[in-house]
This record gives sequence, structure tokens and C-alpha cells, in this order.
Amino acid sequence: MPASALMNVMLTAARKAGRNLARDFGEVENLQVSLKGPANFVTAADIRAEETLFAELSRARPGYGFLMEERGAVEGPDKSHRWVVDPLDGTTNFLHGIPLFAISIALEREGELIAGVVYNPASGETFTAEKGQGAFLDDRRIRVAARTRLEECVITTGIPHRGKPDHELFLAECAGVMQSTAGLRRTGAAALDLAWLAAGRFDGYWERNLSAWDLAAGIVIVREAGGLVFDLEGGPKMLQTGSIIAGNEAVQHDLARLLRAAAGTG
Ligand code: IPD
Ligand code: CA
Ligand code: CA
Repeated sequence: MPASALMNVMLTAARKAGRNLARDFGEVENLQVSLKGPANFVTAADIRAEETLFAELSRARPGYGFLMEERGAVEGPDKSHRWVVDPLDGTTNFLHGIPLFAISIALEREGELIAGVVYNPASGETFTAEKGQGAFLDDRRIRVAARTRLEECVITTGIPHRGKPDHELFLAECAGVMQSTAGLRRTGAAALDLAWLAAGRFDGYWERNLSAWDLAAGIVIVREAGGLVFDLEGGPKMLQTGSIIAGNEAVQHDLARLLRAAAGTG
């Protein structure tokens, strides 16, 4: 299917920023061995990627607003459109030379998510979706996995690290999920968790304390791949609450029940 004008804009921006990120990632691998380490270099790469995305998207669609990780909210004269962008999702992976990171770009129209791109410059994989048009991995249509029995499901999550809350709650939830599923994974990039779920690699996903830019593009892609996405209260406020649970209808439902039981709230 030929990409729409909107998708072309998003892909052009992602590819341009991605070329630089891929080059910077090569440099990170060299810097690992230096005493200073790559931390400052990675911060600069992140900011450069955001600048490229901001410039490209502003040029192609002047007036749209932005919500970006580094810049925050930028209002535009067009109040009905807003880009929600994470220039580098999976920063810790990037910093450690682990090739699991992505550029995440979503577009909201009148507050509704209508398009998403998740691009991993290290693997070259591009996940895309537009509302009503299905979800794609490169040129191939993708669907969420059909597995319904939790014991056969691989579940991905985000592990709260130093500086993040809810460690005890997470451990209780993990204990429950570990005992009932085929395995738990942690990619370190929320945008990829959602994109891989859309492609049927993961069956379920939950995490909390995320930001809108971690989730926005991946949510469109999962929905267009036939998956369900809710916040951990069972509502539609993923971007506001920063919590998420996703999967096909059966997995989403059973995983939510399992998490409530593990946390002692269900
Ligand atoms: C992070 C990743 C990670 C999630 C973190 C996020 P960043 O984003 O999405 O998977 O567990 O909570 O902050 O900082 O790499 O853009
Ligand atoms: Ca992120
Ligand atoms: Ca980021």
C-alpha cells in the first residue's frame, strides 16, 4: 500500500533523525571503553535527534503543536493537531550499546491519536499505523498474536529502576505473572514493547509511570493491529496516567485480572 502524505511526512522525519542516531550509536560502541563513558555524548545525540524531528515536522506541517520529551509542550497556531514525540526511546539501551531503541512519533487530531511511527534505526524495522488503515511492519500488515491461554503467552513489562516508584508493587505483580505465563521480557523501550506486541512477538504488556511520548505512537499501532489498550484502572487515560496494559482481548482481560490479584486489589 503506498504511504499517505501524512505517513510520508512522519517517515521522512524519522529516517532523517534515525540516520544520525545510527551513526551516533556506532560511536557509543567505541566510547564504552573510554573512562569518561558515553553519557554526555548520548544526551547530545538525543537532543540532536529531537531538533531534527522538530525541524522536519514543523517544515512539513507548519502550525501543528508538539509534545516532546526534551522540549515539552510547544503550542502552535493549529490547535487541533499535536505531534507527540520521543526522539530516543530506550536511552539506557543506547548508552550501553544495546541495539533496542526507537524514534517514536504520533499525531493527535482533536485530542485523538490518529497515526504512529516507531522506527528502530539499529534494526531498520519501521512500525506504522494510521487510524482505520491497519498496522504495518515495513510493508507487511501485522496483527496481534492470537494466543489466548496465559500459560502460552510471553509478557513484556518495564522494571522500575532507581528513582522510579512502585518497586514492591511491581515485585508482587511479577511473582503472579511469572507463575502463570510462558515468560517475562524487558526490552527497555516502551515504544518497542508496543510495536512488538502489535507484530505478535509479545502477547501482553503492562507498565506504569510512563510519559505520553513513550506510549502515543505504539498505542495507535497496537489498536490498528487489533489489540486492546487501557490504563491500569481499565480506562482510556494511558497518556494522562502513564500506565498501560495491552494485548488481544483475552490476554488483556486475563492479565489485568492477574495483576489485580497479585497486587491484592482484585
Ligand atoms: C524509557 C523506556 C523504558 C521505560 C522507561 C522510559 P527513555 O524511555 O521507554 O522502556 O521503562 O520508563 O522512561 O527514557 O529511554 O526515553
Ligand atoms: Ca521514552
Ligand atoms: Ca527518550
